[in-house]
Amino acid sequence: MQVWKDYQAKNKDRFLDELLALLRIPSVSADSGYSKDVKACAEAVKQRLLEAGADKVEVCPTAGHPIVYGEKIIDKALPTVLVYGHYDVQPADPLELWDSGPFEPVIKDDKIYARGSADDKGQFYMHVKAFETMTQTNTLPCNIKFMIEGEEEVGSANLGIFIKENKERLKADVVLISDTSMLSLENPSLDTGLRGLSYMEVEVTGPNRDLHSGVYGGAVANPATILCQMIASMHDENNHVTIPGFYDKVQDLSKEERAALNAAPFDEAEYKADLGVDELWGEKGYTPIERTGIRPTLEVNGIWGGYTGEGSKTVLPSKASAKISMRLVPNQDWIEISELFKAHFEKIAPKSVKIKVTTHHGGSPYVTPIDHIAFKAASEAIKATFGKSPIPMRGGGSIPIVALFEKELGLKTILMGFGLDSDNLHSPNEKYGLANFYKGIETIPYFHKYFAELSK
Ligand code: BES
Ligand code: MN
Ligand code: MN
Repeated sequence: MQVWKDYQAKNKDRFLDELLALLRIPSVSADSGYSKDVKACAEAVKQRLLEAGADKVEVCPTAGHPIVYGEKIIDKALPTVLVYGHYDVQPADPLELWDSGPFEPVIKDDKIYARGSADDKGQFYMHVKAFETMTQTNTLPCNIKFMIEGEEEVGSANLGIFIKENKERLKADVVLISDTSMLSLENPSLDTGLRGLSYMEVEVTGPNRDLHSGVYGGAVANPATILCQMIASMHDENNHVTIPGFYDKVQDLSKEERAALNAAPFDEAEYKADLGVDELWGEKGYTPIERTGIRPTLEVNGIWGGYTGEGSKTVLPSKASAKISMRLVPNQDWIEISELFKAHFEKIAPKSVKIKVTTHHGGSPYVTPIDHIAFKAASEAIKATFGKSPIPMRGGGSIPIVALFEKELGLKTILMGFGLDSDNLHSPNEKYGLANFYKGIETIPYFHKYFAELSK
């Protein structure tokens, strides 16, 4: 639509400046040292929503970080889209690996470098600017509600409570999220699902204190060695996860469905070169696309124990620990998987050590129904601005709250992400392409237009 194009061309630089201002706020949800910044970021999001044309915007306090809720209801008879996003970001460390400050955004090679640029400030902000485009050109075709939270990166526990307590206020026809990736701007894709997650922490304790490794080593079990053995035993020679019952509920895809998934372009040589690895790894019998989309996995996210400082210290540590997560697929239940993990970890522990297993958080997997009118609207919107229909893909990451949107609000979710897997999410030098940012702002109004038309 020409009016949208004209409006966006005129306001392009301001859209970017506003995003850069948001990126300068270090809204790290995991670190309580940043609580004030998280709150300041929520207030900034509220202001931007009001300026963009929302009628009512509220910063809703929770037991943790606040949720920003805003809406514009033009006509109760029209459909309502609930836009979800998150203004919190992952911690920036290790800082020394960044080429520029994580909260001092710079534009280099047409990309915005900053923590949160792709995940998710740059992406949810496209919705704010798309909304502004529609309100300022008097073309908003439906009602819009915004729910932008501050705890996605730490598990969304308080958003779960908020949803249960605000069912009336959150009434809508569909949820729209831009917090995932597409294949590339040349090969746009639409995620049709997300994996679930179960996040655990284990602690292995040996002797009641750190010991001299020469005086005691050899006679007392070393918890670091035991932990490594236990972790290593959790994959077999085919890289299957060995926890009994782990695969029991995993939904197998038909031959046709697998063929369709694998039809997406994937260049293994390029993938390896980008990551600096000589060989890929994974569950036998599945392709990389399947291993990261439709198969469950188990990963060590961090492991520590004993002396890790400068130089050397001869010590047999008293404790060793690890943070272990499992990505889940339909129809695995994250609570059940967490229990299976715990029981297995306790069972395989030798008597020479004591074990503590705790669950951090989790979430269920999600699959988007591709026959839903909102999926069709997203497909058509992408076709309108990219000139190509999107390739359906399964996303490997997790947004645990999506399953709750369905369970608590009865709403389906459309995952219309504009990032790239190579945007360094959760890594140093996170980036988001300017072209991705502007393409998103251009595409989103079409989603609302087509969704309103298809809802008639
Ligand atoms: N935006 C990501 C999820 C994502 C990224 C999905 C790329 C698909 C493709 C989200 O912010 C995230 O990082 N989620 C966490 C889970 C959360 C409970 C910490 C994840 O996937 O590890
Ligand atoms: Mn995200
Ligand atoms: Mn994230």
